[in-house]
Amino acid sequence: MIDLYRAIQNGSINGRTIRKYLEREGTQLLEKGEAHYYYIRERFNECGDPFDFIFLSRSCFNGMMRFNKKGGFNVPFCRKPERFRPALITKIVNQVEWAAKAMEGKDWQFLVQDWRLTVGSARAGDVIYCDPPYVGRHVDYYNGFTEEEADALAQSLIASEAGFALSMWLENKYRRNDYVDRLFSDYPQRTMEHFYHVGPQEKLRNAMTEVVVLSENVAATPAEVPESPLPLFERAELMDV
Ligand SMILES: C[S@@+](CC[C@H](N)C(=O)[O-])C[C@H]1O[C@@H](n2cnc3c(N)ncnc32)[C@H](O)[C@@H]1O
Repeated sequence: MIDLYRAIQNGSINGRTIRKYLEREGTQLLEKGEAHYYYIRERFNECGDPFDFIFLSRSCFNGMMRFNKKGGFNVPFCRKPERFRPALITKIVNQVEWAAKAMEGKDWQFLVQDWRLTVGSARAGDVIYCDPPYVGRHVDYYNGFTEEEADALAQSLIASEAGFALSMWLENKYRRNDYVDRLFSDYPQRTMEHFYHVGPQEKLRNAMTEVVVLSENVAATPAEVPESPLPLFERAELMDV
């Protein structure tokens, strides 16, 4: 994902190049069916080309992002060889152009690094948006983000002179996340209902209340919501509690 944003930032992926790529690979998918999807998936797992990442994210099962322990993308095909119709290609082109416009003239750096480095380098006036693995939901990740690590992350956000926004699950009809109550009960929170359409079993596809915990200074700043009808990845609507 970082490589994708870098490619949009340096212009190698733009509206024209992604259209050309998707028209070519979409035609191949139509002709060869799932064999072509798996060919691209293998190529992506060898080379990590962000063009292929877009192809996979838009033609895999349920648009899911899942990687195996070795870091290989392992989501199966959505089984729709006709997936890349002109309307979808145009939608993706618009999303890429929207992202490019958002980055224009900004001195942004996209980095992959441990959260300790990122949080540690933030200064007063910065805002940290933190979207860590959900605690207490081990089914979701292979990467072993432990409760201790989650607690350490919360402590370092609280100790940081920068503002923060932290997203986390809050509750579903079975249980409530004690992490949020234990560490952030004094902090402003915004919640939203979210319905999980992705899950191995029907009964796991439940409504969930998600929360964004904010530092006081971030909560006090009026939100500027940019016009973005076509984001690259799904946007959440936030509601006040
Ligand atoms: C909820 S996901 C974030 C999803 C992302 N914000 C998005 O919209 O696609 C949590 C991420 O934290 C990453 N992660 C796990 N341990 C980490 C660590 N020690 N430092 C930084 N990131 C970590 C995981 O690999 C995973 O991608």
